[in-house]
Amino acid sequence: MEEFKTDFLVIGSGVAGLYTAIRAATHGNVTLVTKGELLESNTWYAQGGIAAALGREDSPLAHLQDTLQAGAGLCVEDAVAVLVAEGPHRIYDLINFGTHFDRDASGELVLGKEAAHSMRRIVHARGDATGAEVAESLADFAARTANLRILRGHLALELLLTDGCCAGAILQSPTGELIHCAARGTVLATGGCGQLYMNTTNPAVATGDGLAMAARAGATLLDMEFVQFHPTALSITENPMPLVSEAVRGEGALLVNEQGERFMLAIHKWAELAPRDIVARAIFHQMQQGHRVYLDATHLGERFPVRFPNIFHLCRERGVDPRKELIPVAPAAHFMMGGVQTNTEGRTSVPHLYACGEVACTGVHGANRLASNSLLEGMVFAERVAQSLKELPDLDSQTSKAVPAAKPAIQPSAAEHTETERLAQRIRSIMWEYAGIVRSGTGLKQAQAELAQIRQHPLAQTYPVANMCLVAEQIVTAALTRQESRGGHFRQDYPQEDSYWADKRVALTPDGAHVVNLTYQHAKAAQTLQSSCKK
Ligand code: FAD
Ligand code: SIN
Repeated sequence: MEEFKTDFLVIGSGVAGLYTAIRAATHGNVTLVTKGELLESNTWYAQGGIAAALGREDSPLAHLQDTLQAGAGLCVEDAVAVLVAEGPHRIYDLINFGTHFDRDASGELVLGKEAAHSMRRIVHARGDATGAEVAESLADFAARTANLRILRGHLALELLLTDGCCAGAILQSPTGELIHCAARGTVLATGGCGQLYMNTTNPAVATGDGLAMAARAGATLLDMEFVQFHPTALSITENPMPLVSEAVRGEGALLVNEQGERFMLAIHKWAELAPRDIVARAIFHQMQQGHRVYLDATHLGERFPVRFPNIFHLCRERGVDPRKELIPVAPAAHFMMGGVQTNTEGRTSVPHLYACGEVACTGVHGANRLASNSLLEGMVFAERVAQSLKELPDLDSQTSKAVPAAKPAIQPSAAEHTETERLAQRIRSIMWEYAGIVRSGTGLKQAQAELAQIRQHPLAQTYPVANMCLVAEQIVTAALTRQESRGGHFRQDYPQEDSYWADKRVALTPDGAHVVNLTYQHAKAAQTLQSSCKK
């Protein structure tokens, strides 16, 4: 097996991976690996923008309050305080790295509005192609960064462990060779797992690999029951489904059914701009009752292609003209609120293993993420991870003796490919049906039984089925454990929030699911906010 050493191994090339790699390269040599093309990530597809308290009327405190409110009582307040206080600084970093955000005629940043934000605070780029602008500018900057090597088409299969510490990863090169990559510090920035669901906005790379690798290495996963379903994907049978950004509703678009009924008015005082989980469930219920649901943005007329050029193009390619026609929409799996447990420095429960971005669970999203807080989280905690990496000891000779946490999965052969794709598709159907927008104990147990059957299949240990199956089981176990409804997790057998669960989180460790107390650190949160106000 080929071997190499690096100070820091960063896995993933979305906002979190690129940002970590650029910043960590100032204090060691960095290898960034990504399993596909450099720009293929959830980040590239991001539309609406990045939330940060930059407006004159805005403040980190107001952003904190909106985030806590959306999080339905489960946000870790000191992590949210870090997010909102450091967010504006990270936006200015991005601008310095070369990101061009949209500005008005006087050169001020234009701020958009999205659901559950009490004011306009979303910076965006190229109208509705924020992710592409961010990913491309970071990738360009990374290519010019000394001490940073980028390996495209390199799949991380398994983490390496020595004496319980993470010491790098086993990679697979584009030609199929296994590589033992030893590292002082390893950073998971592998994004989410929308591809576990039949309907998703996430691209093909979002198979939950980092979550699975971390679990096999013994790391604790938290909040895995909280999957966010975006209310308005374009309703067509494509994988992924193109997104119709919440920013379209922020500019006044209305949700109607085929009878023209504006059903959100009866459901929430903020109607179309209610928190995402509420809008997604309302649309789902409409569809369950046999209705079709549309977004009416016709009031924007010729302004639509100017403000939303990317969405306009996506719709036109599929025969819908949003200037004159209703846009058919449906909910789709979009974001994983839970993930690998980290503290505010990005440390996981496994020494020398760090995580940031969507794969991590810092606790900033609680039970439901506030729109456009994800790219922000990726940057804020990537910066913190990069700073933490400095403290790690030098590579010692033991590192090359590190062993993989589990036997690395093999890729299916060409002949096996159809069968493994069938297994992946089966997992997506099970998750959509039983662990989707509306869940129940009976359905979740059915999911457990069907996933256990898939595990018996001779190809269940191949990549990516093994990862998908493990993460699906983690979501189902957490969802069965939380016997209430809160945020993105809705159970029809426990349809209300339950005060018992108000301060409880589900932690998944190698020995099973544990209910743990959420400990607030209000004092620290207040301090963080105060020091951010002085800057
Ligand atoms: P990603 O950007 O997903 O990057 C993960 C990387 O890891 C990829 O490069 C992938 O190839 C790589 N990888 C995965 N597994 C492996 C492996 N085994 N080996 C090697 N590499 C691996 N959020 C916002 O804040 N604002 C928005 O406007 C917004 N719009 C969105 C629109 C869409 C359509 C989608 C899908 C998401 C949107 N989000 C938005 C959410 C946000 O884009 C993501 O949560 C965020 O980009 C995640 O960044 P990340 O760096 O953690 O992961
Ligand atoms: C959107 O543009 O609606 C997506 C924003 C997000 O996921 O934060």
